[in-house]
Amino acid sequence: MHIYRTIADLRQALKLVKDEALSIGLVPTMGNLHKGHLSLARLAREECDYILTTIFVNPTQFGPNEDFQNYPRSFEDDIAALTSINCDAVFVPNIEEIYPQGPGLETLVSVPNMSKRLCGASRSGHFDGVCTIVTKLFNICQADKAYFGEKDYQQLTIIKKLANDLNIPIEIIGVPTSRETSGLALSSRNSYLEPEQLDQAAVLYKTLRKTANLIKLDRNLNYPELEKKALENISSAGLKPDYFSICEAQSLLPAKAEDKDLIILTAAYLGKTRLIDNISIELT
Ligand code: PAJ
Repeated sequence: MHIYRTIADLRQALKLVKDEALSIGLVPTMGNLHKGHLSLARLAREECDYILTTIFVNPTQFGPNEDFQNYPRSFEDDIAALTSINCDAVFVPNIEEIYPQGPGLETLVSVPNMSKRLCGASRSGHFDGVCTIVTKLFNICQADKAYFGEKDYQQLTIIKKLANDLNIPIEIIGVPTSRETSGLALSSRNSYLEPEQLDQAAVLYKTLRKTANLIKLDRNLNYPELEKKALENISSAGLKPDYFSICEAQSLLPAKAEDKDLIILTAAYLGKTRLIDNISIELT
C-alpha cells in the first residue's frame, strides 16, 4: 500500500490510475480506524478498482472547546488495518498541505439550513468544516465513488446535497452502521469511555429502537411526546441528551404525521464525550 503525504504526489499517482481507466473509490476518515471505518473500505474494495483512504484530523470541523488536540491518533495500527484489507493507497496530509494559509483563512463550503440544525445547532461551524474538507478531498482525488457511514447520518445527507448542488461528478455511497453487540455504534470517541460507560452508552441505541418500535408497530405518531419520553429515558441512564429528533429522512425537518420515510437522530454527552446515533423507519 502506498502512503502519500502531498497533493502533488497523490495527483501524479492518481493520473496513472485514471489513464488505465480504473475506477477510484474514496474513503475519507480522521483515522483511529475501527471496524466501522473498515466496512466502508471493504465495500469500496468490492465496488472499485483502486481504493484510496484518507486520514486527516480536520481542525476546521472542531469547535474551540472540542477535542481536536486529544482526538485519538493511531497511525501505525491504521496503516496495518488498511494493508490487511488490500487498500491501494492512503493519503495522510499534514495541516499545512491542506490549509497553506492556516485553518480558518480558506474558502468555506457551506450547505444552508440543514447544517444549522441537530448537531449543527450545538456545534457551530462544524458542518462548514466538514463540507470544506470533503470538497477539497473530492477535488484532490477525483474519485468515482465516495463512501460515508450512516452513523453520521446528518453528515451523509449534507454531503449528498453538496455533491449534487456543486455538480461534483461523484457517487456518494452510504454504508450501514457497525455496532457493538450491546447496540452501541462504533466510534473513535468510544475510546474515551471507561468499560462501564460503554454499557451505559448503549441506552442511546436502545432508546432509538424502542421509539422506532412504538412508531412502526404501535403506530404512535405523537412525535413530540415520543421525543420527550426518549429524552427522559436517556437522562435517567446518566447521559446528558443534546437532542432526540424524529425527522423526515431527506430534509431532516421535524417529521409530520403524513411522512413515511423517517429518521430518528440523537446526540448525548456521557461525561465530556459526545455520542451520536440514529435509526431509520419506513412506514407503509
Ligand atoms: P470519521 O469520524 O473518522 O469517520 C469516517 C467515516 O467513517 C465517516 O463516513 C463515518 O460516518 C464512518 N463511520 C464512523 N463510525 C462508523 C460506524 N460505526 N459504522 C459505519 N461507518 C462509520 O466522519 C469523519 O471522520 C469526518 O467528518 C470526515 C468525513 C472524514 C471529514 O473530515
